[in-house]
This record gives sequence, C-alpha cells and structure tokens, in this order.
Amino acid sequence: MQLIDVGEGPLLDEILRETHTIWADRIDPAPFRQFWLAQLRTAWGREHLCRVALVDGGRVLASTKVYEFTARVDGEAVGVCGLGAVFTQTAHRRSGHARELIDRVLARAVGRGQRLALLFSEIGMDYYARIGFTAVATHDATFRVTPPRQRGAPATMVRAGDDRDYEAVVRLGRAQAAPFRFHLDRDRSVVQYGIVKQRLRAGFGPAGLRELQFFIAEEGTSAVAYVAIGVEGDRWTLLECGDRDVTGARVGAILQVLLAREPSRRPPVIVGRLPPGFLPPQMAVVDRHEAKELMMIRPLGDFRLAAPLAEDQVLYWRNDLF
Ligand SMILES: CC(C)(COP(=O)(O)OP(=O)(O)OC[C@H]1O[C@@H](n2cnc3c(N)ncnc32)[C@H](O)[C@@H]1OP(=O)(O)O)[C@@H](O)C(=O)NCCC(=O)NCCS
Repeated sequence: MQLIDVGEGPLLDEILRETHTIWADRIDPAPFRQFWLAQLRTAWGREHLCRVALVDGGRVLASTKVYEFTARVDGEAVGVCGLGAVFTQTAHRRSGHARELIDRVLARAVGRGQRLALLFSEIGMDYYARIGFTAVATHDATFRVTPPRQRGAPATMVRAGDDRDYEAVVRLGRAQAAPFRFHLDRDRSVVQYGIVKQRLRAGFGPAGLRELQFFIAEEGTSAVAYVAIGVEGDRWTLLECGDRDVTGARVGAILQVLLAREPSRRPPVIVGRLPPGFLPPQMAVVDRHEAKELMMIRPLGDFRLAAPLAEDQVLYWRNDLF
C-alpha cells in the first residue's frame, strides 16, 4: 500500500466517479472534475491543496483532499493539516483503509512541521473521535435583517468587490480575528481562494442555480466593510464578512442595500455564521442550530492546546469550510 498524490491522472477519475455521488452539489461529472482542477490552479491551491490516495496494486482504496493552512492558536502560528472528502471506495469499505489513510496523511503532516489536524465531519463525531479527534462546538444561525427606518436603501456606498479589495479584506479579517484563541491566518491568497472557489462552484453548476455576491462598502477609495454571500434561490448563505466598525453597522447596511434592490420580492432566508459577539445592529438571530459539519481537531506530534477550545474562542467562517 502506498500514499500517492493523485494529481490529475486516472486515479483522480477513479475517485471522482464515486465521490461525485455524494459531493456533486448538482454539478455534472465533467464540470465536477474541472471544478477541482480549477481550485488546484488558484494561487493558494497550487501551494496548499492536493488530493492523496491510499493505493494498492494500482487501485484506489481510500482518498482525501488535503488543505494546508496556517492557523493562529493562542497567538502562535500553527501549521494545520485539513482533511476534506475522506472517502473509501465502496468495494473496499470496513477494512480500516480510511483509518490507515488518515494515519499516513497525518504522519506526513508531522514531517512537514504541521501541528494540528482539522476536519469537518459529516458523519457525526464517533468515527473521528476513535482516531483522536475532538469536536469544537459550532453553531449556524438564521438571521433577519431589519429594513432601514426610511424606506429604500440606506445611504451607504456599496459596489461589487473585486481583486483590488483583497488586501482590505485581509486587514479587516486580521483585526476582527485577533482576539480569538483559534482562527485561520487568512492572507491574500486564502481570501482570494475562498471567493474564487464560490465563483467556480456557481460557474460549474447548472446555469442560474447559484451565485456569489461579494460586495463592499467604500470610504474614500478603500473598502471599510464587505460581505460574501452564496445565493441559491431565496436562500442566502453568509460566507464571510468584515467591518472596520466594530459594531458591524456597515455590514448591516450593505445587507440592507442588497435587500432593497428587489423590494417587491419576499426577503430571502439568510443563514450562516457570524463571529461570536459580532451582530450588526440591523440583524437579529431568529434561530440557532448546531452546524451540520462538525468541526474536529487533533493535535499532532507533541503539540498541545493550553485548554480545550470553547465556541466563543473560535472564529471560523463558513467560507473556510472544506
Ligand atoms: C466513512 C468512511 C470514510 C469510512 O471508511 P472505511 O475505510 O470503511 O473506514 P474504516 O474501515 O477505517 O472504519 C470502518 C468504520 O467506519 C465507521 N463508519 C462508516 N461509515 C460511517 C458513517 N456514515 N457514520 C459513522 N461511522 C461510520 C463504522 O464505525 C465502521 O465500523 P464497523 O465496520 O464496525 O461498522 C466510508 O464509509 C466512506 O467513504 N463513506 C462515504 C463518505 C463519507 O461519508 N466520508 C466522511 C466524510 S466526513
């Protein structure tokens, strides 16, 4: 058995044929492949993203995507090995292959100086708890945005965000994340990857199914607040946002402007996650529920957390889920 970086060859096709059945998100098989390859070609993806497989006699047994992030943990930069789409080919299940794969990937991560493993379980916590992962509580919410007191859009300059805004997004993100014990170090390439990935997801999916709305509020010539929202029908997913105003009033105003574009339409359901303690005055939480993807971590090598991570000590955006 060998651990192989599958790159773009026939092993990848073997994996995608099966994983497509659960993770396609309504993207057809050919564009599903393109979607993955396009992510690998982003500036961040080229350096930090790959898919590895446990292979025996030329056949894939199990595979996973590997995301290499840097996190800030108690103020320290920590290399993180993120595991996504852990999958055992159906013919090879229940023979310990997923476990063997994870063991090998994490051993390799230790060799690369990474000190924390991170994943988002879609199968509850038991399987990963047995191999040393612990859950970090995270909740998602459903939000309501109150319309401005005067009807119509508030007087906030809002425009579509683009490449020139990434530096401002990084700055806003760093300031907002600093007080938290755990957050990703989101540099320009991470931020760009997050936005581009959503655009690719929309572009490779059925026409008209999804779109990304990335908007900023500007003062002078620089972005002072932004929101990124995934839109699917009348459901908006708040992927990330930032605001130089600690109250979040500009994020709230951007949302009011976006909603005011179509005043006759029924307001969308807005779901997602905001950093603990951050709720723009124009927003209210109408429902809070445990996140569907269970965040789990495992220290690697001799790394230890000073104390378990409480939910209000963690900042993790929906856009950084993998
Ligand atoms: C989960 C999965 C990767 C396990 O692969 P595997 O190589 O069969 O795993 P192992 O042989 O190491 O362990 C088998 C154990 O996995 C556990 N397991 C498998 N599927 C599970 C699920 N959906 N929920 C909880 N536990 C599960 C079972 O406890 C099983 O033990 P059992 O044989 O005593 O019932 C595989 O079932 C799979 O690919 N599932 C579909 C994709 C998926 O859901 N991936 C997880 C994403 S977070």
